[in-house]
Amino acid sequence: MLLAKYPRRSYTHAKTPVEKLPHLTKLLNGPSIYIKRDDLLGLAGGGNKTRKLEFLIADALRKGADTIVTGGALQSNHCRLTLAAAVKEGLKCQLVLEEGIATPYEPGANGNNLLFKLLGAESIKVVPHGSDIIAEMQTLSEELTMAGRTPYVIPIGGSNALGSVGYAACAQEILQQTFEDGLVLDDVVVASGSGGTQAGLIVGLHASSAPITVHGINVSRPNETQIPKITDLVQQTADYLNVSANHLADHVHCYDGYVGEGYTIPTQGMIEAVQMLARTEGILLDSVYTGKVMAGLIDLIRKGAFKKEDNVLFVHTGGSPSLYATPALFDEDLFAL
Ligand SMILES: Cc1ncc(COP(=O)(O)O)c(C=O)c1O
Repeated sequence: MLLAKYPRRSYTHAKTPVEKLPHLTKLLNGPSIYIKRDDLLGLAGGGNKTRKLEFLIADALRKGADTIVTGGALQSNHCRLTLAAAVKEGLKCQLVLEEGIATPYEPGANGNNLLFKLLGAESIKVVPHGSDIIAEMQTLSEELTMAGRTPYVIPIGGSNALGSVGYAACAQEILQQTFEDGLVLDDVVVASGSGGTQAGLIVGLHASSAPITVHGINVSRPNETQIPKITDLVQQTADYLNVSANHLADHVHCYDGYVGEGYTIPTQGMIEAVQMLARTEGILLDSVYTGKVMAGLIDLIRKGAFKKEDNVLFVHTGGSPSLYATPALFDEDLFAL
């Protein structure tokens, strides 16, 4: 892959660290656990979208856009970071937010909602749960065009082939860092949501012939819909990057046992995982994505899915700003040292 040929903006000034988690490793008595600190990426509050936005915003600028349109859930990290990137580039940004099943929009809510206002979203359109957000974004874009503006629509989660290139680049970064540290990774564990993170990592590792298994922990869908979604995005990303997609479908591994009742709905495992990482390693996760992913990793280790001599990398995709929207979630202690 020759990623330098794709237009890219740079929003982070160094590689994000790969750190060992010694206390967690000891506590779980399984494989050696490492963490890729993508929660420390640039833009307001860090997180995985920053890598996708480096390519997506470069494309928007190349096409002369003056307004970014995107959408997500009420506490969307993707919307916060897209808005921050737009601000940095002097672009306007309009958001479409979908209410949750049991969580209506609260204008005064904390977390990312507060940050949408602080970062100066030009408009926020709230739509009921189950609305077609893609159609809503399209309508907004057409209205902007009719008003003489030049909109650029970024898909939910930044997960198209171009956004996924950000994580193919991350795969290269991980391989370089682990090479420098003499660390031979066996497995990567990462969130599987809109899919660009997992798909980009799969394609990037495959393109370097690295025999590292990527385990996607689903945060919103069952395997019957998530696996085809990731497989399709892997194919599109491989095509875009001119990487041979032979047998790539065999590299798509998803786990749907940790979603609980659905997207954003808390689970006991998530609460335990968030408290465990905070209290063993001093690292903040979030309740919607990384907490459920860590719950999956903990459970897989407890079930003996990895060998003791394995090296497993957990990709921290960010999200901790949303913790401040739901403080009561962690009232009960499910983990104590
Ligand atoms: C903090 C965080 N982690 C993980 C994800 C999931 O990443 P992807 O949508 O690329 O599957 C998201 C998506 O919004 C996120 O905000």
